[in-house]
Amino acid sequence: MSKIREKVRTPAILAVALLPFLLSFVGASRGDRTVQQGLKPPSELALLMREMTAFTDSVRHRLQRGDELPPYPAGFAAIHTATPTDGKLEIERATFDAFADHYLAQVKALYDAPPADRISTFNATVQGCANCHAVACPGPLLRINKLFATSGAGPKE
Ligand code: HEC
Repeated sequence: MSKIREKVRTPAILAVALLPFLLSFVGASRGDRTVQQGLKPPSELALLMREMTAFTDSVRHRLQRGDELPPYPAGFAAIHTATPTDGKLEIERATFDAFADHYLAQVKALYDAPPADRISTFNATVQGCANCHAVACPGPLLRINKLFATSGAGPKE
C-alpha cells in the first residue's frame, strides 16, 4: 500500500521541486533585468525605482516635445515604506527619508510650476534622485545623469 503511494508521490514532489528551476529559465529568456538580478526577485524599493526611472524618462521626452505632464505620480510616496533589498538600507533610515522627502517635494514643485519653468523644475527632480544615490546607492548614477533634460520646447531658465 505505502509503496504505491510512494510511486505516486515522487513525480509530484519532483515537479514541485523543479518548478522554480524551470521558471527561472522562462524568466531569464524574458530579458536582461532578470539576468541582472539572478534568481533573486527585485525588492519593492527596486521595483518602485524602476517605475520612477520610467516616469522620469517619459516626462523628459514629453517636456522636450512640449507635451503635457503625465498624471501626478502619487504612488511614489511609497518610497518611505517600500522594502529594500535584503530588508535593509545602506544608509540611516532618517537620512534616506530626508532625501526621499526632498525628491517628493521636487516632484510636487514640478507639477506646481508654470509651463515656462518645467524644464528647470524637472531637472531639480533628477538632481533629487542623484543626491540620494550619491550616498545611498551609487550604481545607478550614470543612468540617472542621462535623465537630465537638455532642451525644451518652451522658454527655459
Ligand atoms: C531617497 C533615496 C533615493 C531617491 C530619491 C532615489 N533613489 Fe533610486 N534607489 C535608492 C536605493 C536605496 C536603491 C536600492 C534599492 C534596492 O536595492 O532595494 C535605489 C535603486 C535604484 C535603481 C536600481 C533599481 C533596480 O532595478 O535594482 C535605479 C535605476 C534607481 N534607483 C533610479 C532612481 C531614479 C531615476 C530616481 C529619481 C527619479 C531615484 N532612483 C531616486 C535610493 C533612492
